Amino acid sequence: MDQFIINGGARLRGVVPISGSKNAALPIMAATLLTEGETILRGVPLLDDVESLSVLLRKLGANARRDDDGAIRLRVEDEQNCVAEYELVRKMRASICVMGPLLARRHKAQISMPGGCAIGDRPIDLHLAGMENLGADVDLIGGDIHLRAKRLKGAEMFLGGPFGSTVLGTANVMMAACLAEGTTIIESAACEPEVADVANYLNACGARISGHGTPRITIEGVKSLKGCEYTIIPDRIEAGTFMMAAAITNGELTLTNCRMDHLLAVIDRLKAVGVNIERKDGGAVVSSARRLEPITVATQPFPGFPTDLQAQLMALLSLADGNSIITEKVFPDRFLHVAELNRLGARLRKEGQTVVIEGVRRLIGAPVMASDLRASAALVLAGLIAKGQTRISRVYHIDRGYEAIEKKLAAVGADIQRMAE
Ligand code: EPU
Repeated sequence: MDQFIINGGARLRGVVPISGSKNAALPIMAATLLTEGETILRGVPLLDDVESLSVLLRKLGANARRDDDGAIRLRVEDEQNCVAEYELVRKMRASICVMGPLLARRHKAQISMPGGCAIGDRPIDLHLAGMENLGADVDLIGGDIHLRAKRLKGAEMFLGGPFGSTVLGTANVMMAACLAEGTTIIESAACEPEVADVANYLNACGARISGHGTPRITIEGVKSLKGCEYTIIPDRIEAGTFMMAAAITNGELTLTNCRMDHLLAVIDRLKAVGVNIERKDGGAVVSSARRLEPITVATQPFPGFPTDLQAQLMALLSLADGNSIITEKVFPDRFLHVAELNRLGARLRKEGQTVVIEGVRRLIGAPVMASDLRASAALVLAGLIAKGQTRISRVYHIDRGYEAIEKKLAAVGADIQRMAE
């Protein structure tokens, strides 16, 4: 297992190229199971999660390989296997999004029921309700969900749950509905740019989806889809993380390949903290005033402040001049970073879904442990500014979702090294 050793204090300066979006790439790769012929995907980040999904897609009969130029080529060659096993689903929850494509194209799917994970329970009842609405029979046998349908039928449905819309649930049902007979309407659909990207890919393959990016998506079923060439949107969560890296080190970073229109809530809150963010040639220039103002934030589905940046924002606010409040409304248990940040000298007090952050003047390096992807990113941010050395163990969590983060940070002046534990 690898660890990061960070010597804090360097002000970051320079250019950071933002990679393609992990959370768009994964469901789009799964969507290729719906298609005939070849898909060439550009901008798929080099990540462990992408590799895990490629392994699953190969087991499901797809040829998936990365070209020398970085593009991923996918082509379904054998449609016999319809089983996504526990080992792969356990490793990566996003593998759940092969369910819709398998059911629509192969008329059956057997997917291991995912368990909870470090950020909470993560049920899939809305995915299953969506498939049932499209006419599938759904059974849970021995920990596996068995789904069957001769031909899915378009339907009108409400897909909201107790925490609002579901990102992968919307993508899953939308993918299945593409090959259903007739029209499907998903009400309370997730509006995340990643879901819209899946819809744009499918439309480029011949699907008839409209309303994506809004809470009401309409899908007119078609008979077949044909693979195409497609470029994945930039990763807004990686971009937001680097914005906070600039802010926490009092540095100045230029982010290229960064969609400001996907980050308006984040930019709004960072500006309230005192961070300067300017648009520049398809990207952004981010710098910070020395003084960080305290703020109040609640995470929300898009276009609200993303839960995937909650931990990183907490690291930043731990150095603000006063008390901040963060409320987590998407994954109420997503707080494993709180205790680790406190080890670095932050003053965080968790009360239910809310954390009160009493700003401190400085953080002090210490050994800490990464617990999930975004929590790890928060620890890296804290390590960049903490006095002395911070050792972050279990960084495999961060490799799942950030492409070469230590190399990108070192290139703009951070003192960070990867070492075997
Ligand atoms: N929910 C249900 N029932 C369901 C599905 C979800 O109650 O059937 C609840 C969840 O428990 C949660 C809320 O709805 O409280 C939202 O969950 P959602 O389904 O939207 O999450 P997801 O689709 O499983 C994706 C991202 C997550 C990101 C969330 C929220 C991918 C691969 N994952 O997960 O990304 O946090 O949307 O934006 O796209 C990450 O990248 O670090 C990550 C965890």
